[in-house]
Amino acid sequence: MKLELLHPLAFVPTMGALHAGHQSLISMAKSYAPNVLVSVFVNPLQFENPDDLAKYPRDLAGDAVKAESAGATFVWSPTVEEIYPSEPKIISAGELGNKFEGVHRFGHFDGVLTVVKRLFDLTQPEFALFGEKDFQQLFLIKRMVRELALPITVIEAPIVREADGLAMSSRNVRLSAEGRQAALVISRALHAAARQQDLDSARTLLHQTLREEARFALDYAEIIDEENFEIASSATAKPRALVAGWINDLRLIDNMPMNFGGQR
Ligand code: PAF
Repeated sequence: MKLELLHPLAFVPTMGALHAGHQSLISMAKSYAPNVLVSVFVNPLQFENPDDLAKYPRDLAGDAVKAESAGATFVWSPTVEEIYPSEPKIISAGELGNKFEGVHRFGHFDGVLTVVKRLFDLTQPEFALFGEKDFQQLFLIKRMVRELALPITVIEAPIVREADGLAMSSRNVRLSAEGRQAALVISRALHAAARQQDLDSARTLLHQTLREEARFALDYAEIIDEENFEIASSATAKPRALVAGWINDLRLIDNMPMNFGGQR
């Protein structure tokens, strides 16, 4: 398919299975440009586990309706051949690509950066919107845009939560009713940490609360410096807590800015 896009263009790249979080990104995109493109592409390069790729929820017809009702002008669902007509030149996420989410997901962030760069090349948007839910992904994409001097403004959008606090994710549909209940420990722990006045108490509360739920298998819970993704210190101006773990065989991630005594 030849893309005939109108500019200025705000671009919302997705892997489909759209939910209210994506819809809020799409309506936010509308405030940056009159033309909003939503791509739906389940990128095989960012799945280190073939089973996870096979199980990734797909509903293109439903996605198109949701995207359009949120304000999308174009919905584009390219094939693997359109995105990767030949062996792609892999963009490395560097050392940070092997930390946090990257520890168990070897090559994941290289796959994300490679597809995002390719999508940017094909669509040349003025604006691109990404959610804070995948905070490490957002950090790496912003760094790539800066390092390659791409003429694109990256807009970051806050996490959208269910009424009970669970961060919206396309994977949530795979949680059992019991798992869904257990998953609430993550946002509870993040809120508990965010209420603390200093870094040490926040770290303690974060881990203590996460331990209260036996069905949640913790992978990591860290407070990092948003500016450089290093572990936060008491001098960090913008600390953010990151949590990742498993409920049954489903991996969940979440994060929240910390604001000890209003230091931000
Ligand atoms: O966040 C996602 O949905 C994906 O990682 C992205 C940015 C669309 C790249 O495939």
